[in-house]
Amino acid sequence: MAERNADVLDLGGRVAVVTGAASGQGRAAARRLHRAGATVAALDLNAEGLATLGDGILTLAVDTADPDRVAEAFEEIESSLGPAYILASAAAVWAGWNSIVDMDYGDVERIFRINTFGTLYCVKNAARQMIRAAEGGRIIMWSSIAAARGQAGDIPYSGSKAALEGMARPLAAELAQHEITVNVIAPGAIDTPMLGGTDLSFYDTVLPGRRIGTPEEIAELVAWLCSPLSRFVTGAVIPINGGVASINGPWALAHTFHQLEPDLVDRMKAALYGEDQPASTSYS
Ligand SMILES: NC(=O)c1ccc[n+]([C@@H]2O[C@H](COP(=O)([O-])OP(=O)(O)OC[C@H]3O[C@@H](n4cnc5c(N)ncnc54)[C@H](O)[C@@H]3O)[C@@H](O)[C@H]2O)c1
Repeated sequence: MAERNADVLDLGGRVAVVTGAASGQGRAAARRLHRAGATVAALDLNAEGLATLGDGILTLAVDTADPDRVAEAFEEIESSLGPAYILASAAAVWAGWNSIVDMDYGDVERIFRINTFGTLYCVKNAARQMIRAAEGGRIIMWSSIAAARGQAGDIPYSGSKAALEGMARPLAAELAQHEITVNVIAPGAIDTPMLGGTDLSFYDTVLPGRRIGTPEEIAELVAWLCSPLSRFVTGAVIPINGGVASINGPWALAHTFHQLEPDLVDRMKAALYGEDQPASTSYS
């Protein structure tokens, strides 16, 4: 009976490194893994946000786009907590909406350096520790629905995330012999500061569930991917978006063009729900 009731999400004795842990999904993942018993090291640029994570979590102010600082942080984690068994690499920035015509190359480089290269630096250091420890491991990277479904004006961010999906497959192939899984979470819109300042009024109209997701809903998927239950899942890109990727027709059109054609949302609301539609939720 005790065996039947064993908590399969018990991560006691496992060291988890979570980046982007000061805010949003990384923060929720760090807390969820801590609750599951993992020994958590939380990394972020934002030291103030890290300071409010709570007791029992090691916090390190790290710019994950700096390869030397990342290597140093992983050494520090290994010597104080032990080798990483989990890497949940959420740190990223969003680029805002830009047309190709006005594109600033400096912005593009910055986005790729943080979102793509920064993730890769963490994966390299984590994989080396996991291989040396020879106990397997779990690597989770964050992509986005934007990698698979183009939204007008979202070029550098979408590209920086699609690159991670492309790298996950060869990483999974290389690391499977060490019982290390590599998976990518591809969220739809999630209620975090990353979406602050964006006009999201269309989401409560066009998303199938008429709401965006929560960081805690993402953290449950992270916990499952870190558990023994997912040991045969690797090289996967896992959408978690409340069904938005499954929709077709006018809703998909609105999702694609709403940032560049704001009137479209109002016209769709009127067409779908009539003029009595309640005021849109504001997430900004
Ligand atoms: N919120 C969404 O709707 C959404 C949708 C799809 C994918 N994502 C992805 O989910 C992940 C988590 O984002 P979130 O929604 O929690 O956003 P968020 O802005 O709340 O959190 C991102 C965190 O990354 C940190 N960060 C940024 N650059 C860093 C750097 N160079 N070094 C260290 N830390 C850095 C920030 O300080 C912040 O704490 C990201 O990879 C994001 O691209 C978000």
